[in-house]
Amino acid sequence: MCGIIGVLGNHEVAPLLVESLKRLEYRGYDSAGIATVNGGKLDRRRAVGKLVHLSDLLVHHPLAGHAGIGHTRWATHGAATENNAHPHASGPVTVVHNGIIENFRALREKLAPHGLLPSTDTDTETVAMLCAHYMAGGMDPRAAVQATVADLDGAFALLFLFSGEDDLMIAARKGSPLAIGHGDGEMFVGSDAIALAPMTDQITYLEEGDIAFVTRAGAEIIDACGAPARRAKQRIETQSTVIDKAGHKHFMTKEIHEQPVVMAEALARYAPNGMPVFPDALDFTRFDRVVMVACGTGFYSCLTAKYWFEQIARIPCEVDVASEFRYREPPIAPRTLAIFVSQSGETADTLAALRYATGRADMVLSLVNVGTSSIARESDLALAILAGIEVSVASTKAYTNQLTVLALLALHAARAKGSLDNGALRAHIEDLRAVPDLMRQTLALDSQIAAMAGTLAPAPSVLFLGRGVMFATALEAALKMKELSYIHAEAYASGELKHGPIALIDPSLPVVVIAPHDRLFDKTVSNMQEVMARHGRVHLITDAAGAKSARAGTAGVLELPAAGDLAAPILYALPAQLLAYHTAMAKGTDIDQPRNLAKSVTVE
Ligand code: F6R
Repeated sequence: MCGIIGVLGNHEVAPLLVESLKRLEYRGYDSAGIATVNGGKLDRRRAVGKLVHLSDLLVHHPLAGHAGIGHTRWATHGAATENNAHPHASGPVTVVHNGIIENFRALREKLAPHGLLPSTDTDTETVAMLCAHYMAGGMDPRAAVQATVADLDGAFALLFLFSGEDDLMIAARKGSPLAIGHGDGEMFVGSDAIALAPMTDQITYLEEGDIAFVTRAGAEIIDACGAPARRAKQRIETQSTVIDKAGHKHFMTKEIHEQPVVMAEALARYAPNGMPVFPDALDFTRFDRVVMVACGTGFYSCLTAKYWFEQIARIPCEVDVASEFRYREPPIAPRTLAIFVSQSGETADTLAALRYATGRADMVLSLVNVGTSSIARESDLALAILAGIEVSVASTKAYTNQLTVLALLALHAARAKGSLDNGALRAHIEDLRAVPDLMRQTLALDSQIAAMAGTLAPAPSVLFLGRGVMFATALEAALKMKELSYIHAEAYASGELKHGPIALIDPSLPVVVIAPHDRLFDKTVSNMQEVMARHGRVHLITDAAGAKSARAGTAGVLELPAAGDLAAPILYALPAQLLAYHTAMAKGTDIDQPRNLAKSVTVE
């Protein structure tokens, strides 16, 4: 969602703020802004759209000061306008915010009789107004922020700066992450370690309910009860925060091409000797069922794993999107393992679902890409998916590494449940170990995939079909297509086509069928024939055996190397990603930062 940065420095901070915002832009890019305090006076610059517009503005209207805060916005309340851009100001207070203040309307009503009326459409401005109101009543900034935060409902990370105070920033965390960075006579606050990496590798993560009073001398932290709190300082590997495209045109292609390497790393960690290895606590003899919860792409990796847990380990598995699970309040039976999958580890709905399961499920396990994230910290056990930093808003390598770890987890479960003998287990792992090489071969098909994408780009809509576990792959392919190319895309289980969506079939609707030559292939081909009989335009993604038996009548076939059953959903994610990428390239959309999206979704 939004990105936050704050610097109490020894020289001009505007360039540092902009540099950090560049690293936070993946969180939102509707507008950006910075505020500084200079000679005791607050001033700010804000611009709509990407950070480059703010940088341009600063060239002509520079902002001086050694203390400042900055923000990159993913709009929730109010359109993406300069007036709604952060930092928001009221009297001596300016503030940046990530999250949602749910009771902002009630607070506005409380403030109106005091002559404090909103001038923006945002919930955030109310925070500045409330704090300014408390200061007008005689409170100092520290007391005013404490009183303000006590009045707020919702989830937020807040960072305040005050006129007349060039050695004070106040940070508050409830529901959205914040980290303090320690420098040499300088102090920093940021949404994450990535933002702080150019300035420091010494980080303190705030806990839920913490308020931090930050001066150049250090940070004083109080907890949710107002008691002084000690929070550990950690050294962050700066390598893990390096952000560069390594010669690629986009982060997305770089990350797509990293998949063979990061998948091999996950295999080396969780199957070092050809057998699954997980912490002892993950003892599947304790569990009779699995519940899996995630959002977006993570949900599709869970849906894939459902097939694996049920078919291979013979464990009933329920899968839900976090935003439904959290309010559905499902009963959780005894002996349940609850698994939460999140690349960022900060997704608000997934975190809330995890909190619901805590104390109800026998164990709360998370699969995350950010080991210091809230979801990792609140789980009984967190497994790193080891994908490395993912910058492109559309998830690629995190998805395939989620699948890799989930596949190994299903095999680990199968071993504990006795549903697979060691020979079969080893064969599955050998199949998985072959995938990095198969991925390289698949990446070499780039120009064929680009050609297929060229025929999809003019279409108003694309339909993806898959059967069995490949249904989940089709769903992920459709998600990638819509978020990158803005083309409407849907996915159906191919057997479901005849129950309604077949009415859509005509020559203008490209139908992409994702079907390795597995035990369900012939059934999928029958559905494909139903499409072609109605002059539907079918693009088939399959392997050599599949191509041989089903090429006739298609508009095109992409032939992938043959992969084992467990390996196929991982391998087939790559053409799905590249198809969306090349379609988006043909349409000229913003690949790494598609419109309306953000990488880390910390609001409901
Ligand atoms: C799609 C995508 C999103 C995320 C979803 C969950 O390409 O990236 O659908 O998968 O917002 O995010 P995480 O995994 O961080 O919880």
